[in-house]
Amino acid sequence: MEKKYHLFLGINLLFTFICCSSPEVEVGTLDVIPQPYEVTQDTVEKPFVIDKNTVVYVPTRNESMKRIANFLISYVDELSGIKMSLVAKLPNKNAILLEVSEEVTEKEGYRMLVSTDLITIKGGSENGLFYAVQTLFKALPKVRGTEKLAAIPVGNVEDFPRFAYRGFMIDVGRHFFPVSYIKRMIDMMALHNINYFHWHLSEDQGWRIEIKKYPKLTEIGSTRDSTIIDSKTNKYDRMPHKGFYTQDEVREIVRYAADRFITVIPEIDMPGHMMAALASYPELGCTGGPYSVPCKFGVFKDVLCAGNDQTLQFCKDVLEEVMAIFPSEYIHIGGDECPKARWKECPKCQAKICKLELKTTLKHSKENQLQTYFMEEMEKFINAHGRKMMGWDEILEGGLTPNSTVMSWRGVKGGIEAARQHHPVIMTPIHFLYFSNPHWNKLKGVNSVKRVYGFDPVPAVLTSEEQAFILGTQACIWTEWTSDTVKMEWQALPRMAALSEIQWTDPKKKDFESFKKRLPDLLNKYALRGYGYRKDIHDTSIMEMPADSLK
Ligand code: ACM
Ligand code: ZN
Repeated sequence: MEKKYHLFLGINLLFTFICCSSPEVEVGTLDVIPQPYEVTQDTVEKPFVIDKNTVVYVPTRNESMKRIANFLISYVDELSGIKMSLVAKLPNKNAILLEVSEEVTEKEGYRMLVSTDLITIKGGSENGLFYAVQTLFKALPKVRGTEKLAAIPVGNVEDFPRFAYRGFMIDVGRHFFPVSYIKRMIDMMALHNINYFHWHLSEDQGWRIEIKKYPKLTEIGSTRDSTIIDSKTNKYDRMPHKGFYTQDEVREIVRYAADRFITVIPEIDMPGHMMAALASYPELGCTGGPYSVPCKFGVFKDVLCAGNDQTLQFCKDVLEEVMAIFPSEYIHIGGDECPKARWKECPKCQAKICKLELKTTLKHSKENQLQTYFMEEMEKFINAHGRKMMGWDEILEGGLTPNSTVMSWRGVKGGIEAARQHHPVIMTPIHFLYFSNPHWNKLKGVNSVKRVYGFDPVPAVLTSEEQAFILGTQACIWTEWTSDTVKMEWQALPRMAALSEIQWTDPKKKDFESFKKRLPDLLNKYALRGYGYRKDIHDTSIMEMPADSLK
């Protein structure tokens, strides 16, 4: 029987494909978010249609390859209700082949060839295959609940990321989020090709990870009596807030993320932001306390005593347990917002400054150099365990420790300075990538996304040799004013989509108008998964730009 196919250009650049004798077919688009490096699509050829006989084949049937295949199988089920099977032999049609191949030179890259009969995917590694599977999920339309079949247009995708480091940070110190929710956020990250989850695990307002050697950190430090809910009126909710992750739960999260090719970087913030630890072990502070877990936010004068060897040992003991749980190459030890008022008055800190013969110079105060001593002690310990130390840009203030990676948050200045000193840099400037900052990053309207999209992590003032030290970029959600999952998701989505194009897409391909056109397909996927994204992002009437919008 002769078949007739009609192609209709629908909204969102989707094509509807109708065959007179078979079910209606809806064809997606390979132009997904983040925009792949190169896409060619032939919308005239008969597309690859997923039906109940479509199968998946992986030549290497190890656990992780099977897991990648099973992600694809579950995504197709999510979208269409069709349960593809994983077969032992490659048929010559109606199959999706996934294999690691030396032909693809970029480790996280992949090449996808779609013909009417087969989809052949080659990855530079399993990571690349995982991103190809994300692309397929985003490229396929949702047909579940209809009589239609989902299809992919015939074409090619050649894809690999711009940056090796594509991060997202969540602060669970100010507000605790349970394991199940962290997994949901990890799924969101995976959908956007993010490969580092930076987990901010300790804060003034709460210590969130079980440390066996110091049980009071969670017995005392993981609970506060009340939380400020309005900084203008100083109103408190008068309800205890508590929560921590057991080491087994943390291992579960690390494994869950690793299955999705995401490395979890733990952060234990020191020597500032340590009030919860001081409330648990007051002898670690300069004054000896008493201290309590704060119920309000801000930067606190009480910090760890850097002149006390017992305090340094405490930090090393904590890091020892942390490194045993987290295989991450990077271990983040904060270093931000550590006022020096207590150190200036503390006999132990001053004695240490004398012993180390630290002198105030034009560039660095002696207390800032004491912080560098503290960070360097930690860095040596971390390096001795085969890991690398990461810290916020304040670690530049007393002089950088030899092997540190700098996370530039107070703008890009710290990142520029660190790159000029040939230190690796992650750009996460507050003015563009703090999704929880309502001053710089408005939550509503088109600008909430456009502002993120417009950020370029590689400063033009750097030479190309210096630019090579910019490993990548990250967005952060701090949770002082984010106590629930609704606000968390409004802040994250769809800004994470804009972030993913900064992190992944070739800058020559970045185009906000094209992004806006591709976004509705991704929003449909958010809706499918029940993610609570902002729905007002096309509202151009909400265009407020912060005063100093180019900072
Ligand atoms: C920070 O926002 N204090 C790193
Ligand atoms: Zn001290």
